[in-house]
Amino acid sequence: MKIAIANDHGGLDIKNAIIKDFAAQGIEFVNFGTDTADSVDYPIYAKQVTAAIQSGDCDLGILCCGTGIGMSMVANKQKGIRAAVVTNEFCAEMTRRHNNANVLCLGGRVIDEAMAVKLANIFITTPFDGGRHQRRVDMIED
Ligand code: RB5
Repeated sequence: MKIAIANDHGGLDIKNAIIKDFAAQGIEFVNFGTDTADSVDYPIYAKQVTAAIQSGDCDLGILCCGTGIGMSMVANKQKGIRAAVVTNEFCAEMTRRHNNANVLCLGGRVIDEAMAVKLANIFITTPFDGGRHQRRVDMIED
């Protein structure tokens, strides 16, 4: 399992908390930046993560901005990407189980670093339920 992760200036702190946790656990990830607090345009970073998933280089993605919303809007316009803005544990679990989401979007101005780490871990460890949910996910692609 390889995770693609990126952020803008609004998501820098939570991204850093997540990659620190992943590194400590030995979880493989690719960090597309940004790695400074300078203001940047989130669509550039969202597209790098979604391209890594589309190419098959990475299995899941995590995008962090101020709210998670801008990143999700960009990600959901990319073919084969199902991105979800998540602020609590229940939604982190359910968007994997029912939506087979492949990109988690988090807001650094919405949740703290501990919650970001918790949600990222739930997201990457929860499998898709399949079954009736597969039909619905297929309908998204249609
Ligand atoms: C940047 O100020 C902010 O607009 C961005 O991080 C994000 O929240 C957009 O949805």
